[in-house]
Amino acid sequence: MTHASDPGIAFDEELGAWIVDGHEEFLAVSRSTAFNIPKLTLPPELLVNVGKVDIDPVQEQSDYVLLYSVGADHRRRRRFLAGHFTRQAVDGRRESIRKTVRELLTEGQRAGRIDLTADITRPLLTRIMSDVVGIPPALRGEFDEWAHAVTNAGQLGVQGSPAEALHRAAESVNAITQLVRDLLGSPVDLPRGSILSYAAGRSSDAASLSVEELAANVRSIYSSGIETTEYLVASTAYMIFSSPSALRDLRAYPSRIEAVVRETLRFACPAVEIPVRRANRDVRIFNSLIREGDWVRLVALKAERDSRRFSCPDEFDHRRTDQSMPLTYGLGPHRCLGQHLATAIAEEVGRTLADPEYGAHMDTPFPGFRRRAALPVIWGPEWIHLALA
Ligand code: HEM
Repeated sequence: MTHASDPGIAFDEELGAWIVDGHEEFLAVSRSTAFNIPKLTLPPELLVNVGKVDIDPVQEQSDYVLLYSVGADHRRRRRFLAGHFTRQAVDGRRESIRKTVRELLTEGQRAGRIDLTADITRPLLTRIMSDVVGIPPALRGEFDEWAHAVTNAGQLGVQGSPAEALHRAAESVNAITQLVRDLLGSPVDLPRGSILSYAAGRSSDAASLSVEELAANVRSIYSSGIETTEYLVASTAYMIFSSPSALRDLRAYPSRIEAVVRETLRFACPAVEIPVRRANRDVRIFNSLIREGDWVRLVALKAERDSRRFSCPDEFDHRRTDQSMPLTYGLGPHRCLGQHLATAIAEEVGRTLADPEYGAHMDTPFPGFRRRAALPVIWGPEWIHLALA
């Protein structure tokens, strides 16, 4: 058995994995080429109950998504999709994000109170993500249900009937592939500037993606964009309204929202852990020898609170001078494709909520933080209820 002498990395016998929770160690593992992100298969005890369900479509589709792609396939797919997520491309969407937030908040003002996630963030993210991937407005409801059904397959160990959840996921995967095929066949309906309209214009190009690749990535980008960003937005609002100095600063200088979101990413780190890694060869990280085949869990939340890296790490301080790049989006070849978009959405929502025009403040009862049932590596406030003037 290998043992560690570094403070930020240790083998946990019970979990059977290396736990990396130091900042330096997190960076070292993320940057090393000795680790892959393996596709996690369902535990055998769950498969006993789902034996009669044809889950091939779900498994096949996950081979195409960026996160589980490797080498040249990963680079080709990522190159094709990346142009939609650069800082510049994201800045081009800010005005429409702001406009939508204001429209939704004006509706909320009539009731005097909003549930941030249900009334603002969900409708906003559904619109933005549909526009980004290319789902025409009339088909958004149906597409959203299918995408959810696939994500909910991750809930298997938590609740409900695994067979039923998998059956719905498999049907939804087929429905999404057919929808993408149909949309590429009649591109006039596609939202301009979306991934699908870009793909339709390049269908004869050798570097273009196949229908199956597009369907898998459109679905996974849509869901990744919604499920995680929802928590970043809620955490940002929580930090703004529970930190008097942040709210005061934002009201005086709205551009400080960048520092507030950056500190929220560190302090409330929406992805507690980033996807599990497996060593593809023996490798030494500082003093720890990690053997080929060992599992490695990267705990971003703890690494972001490493007292060797940050002064007063357990304090939220948007004026801190020892900030560094966020770990919650991961690093290296699989770093989050949508990080600029997620950050921009949190900034635009946070800036607008702090606008004195809305007189917003957090309503009781105050929320605790919880992990998401279907995706327990994600966490954030259970709810954000805001009273509006
Ligand atoms: C706060 C919000 C978000 C968080 C915390 C988050 C977190 C992550 C993490 C931890 C990874 C894996 C990185 C790694 O293992 O090295 C990842 C990958 C990814 N994320 Fe995000 N994400 C967020 C928002 C988004 C959004 C808005 C989109 C799409 C618009 C998106 C799309 C993706 C994609 C496609 C990948 C796979 C990239 C690849 O494998 O090349 N994410 N994200």
